[in-house]
Amino acid sequence: MRIEKLKEEDIGGYRKLVKIIIQNSPYETDRSKNEEVRKFSKDYLLMGLRDKGRIYLIGKMKKKKVAFCSAFSYGGGLFWLEWIGVNKDLRRRGIAGQMLRSLEKRLKRKRIHKILTITRVKNKESIKMLQGEGWKRRALLPHYWNKATFFLWEKEIE
Ligand SMILES: CC(C)(COP(=O)(O)OP(=O)(O)OC[C@H]1O[C@@H](n2cnc3c(N)ncnc32)[C@H](O)[C@@H]1OP(=O)(O)O)[C@@H](O)C(=O)NCCC(=O)NCCS
Repeated sequence: MRIEKLKEEDIGGYRKLVKIIIQNSPYETDRSKNEEVRKFSKDYLLMGLRDKGRIYLIGKMKKKKVAFCSAFSYGGGLFWLEWIGVNKDLRRRGIAGQMLRSLEKRLKRKRIHKILTITRVKNKESIKMLQGEGWKRRALLPHYWNKATFFLWEKEIE
């Protein structure tokens, strides 16, 4: 798999992949799916591409777009992992791990010292994947985003 920073010509394919993965997530509600997909509108992505504090990565196998992740600066040397997703037919092959390691390499070059994220407490795939990649679970966040319960995670960038 090749992992690249998102380019303008790939926005259409990136959005398609994001939409399929979010719409098929068993953990999101209809309301949260719509809210999340809106974060990947064409205008929003175009704006993000011009923002040095934003990273959109895309994983490609041959020409097929198979994985995405998005992250943004939180200031103070911190970054926030917003979303990561892998094509349903290609899961459990270490692709998400590769995406995260590529993201971390890029963050290290930007002198970022820590990355944070949240997962829904029921998202067992995501939880296992983060644990496997060395992320630490730091807090339980009840009644959080859209009133659901989440875990807060962080990882030192070394
Ligand atoms: C979470 C997600 C990104 C993981 O992607 P992936 O490429 O399958 O993950 P990896 O292959 O790198 O998995 C690494 C480890 O995580 C764990 N894991 C991942 N999926 C798992 C599952 N379904 N059941 C149990 N453990 C799982 C395993 O320990 C796995 O290592 P192993 O296969 O050697 O046992 C993927 O399931 C996905 O796209 N989910 C939908 C979107 C989502 O919920 N994103 C997270 C919210 S932001």
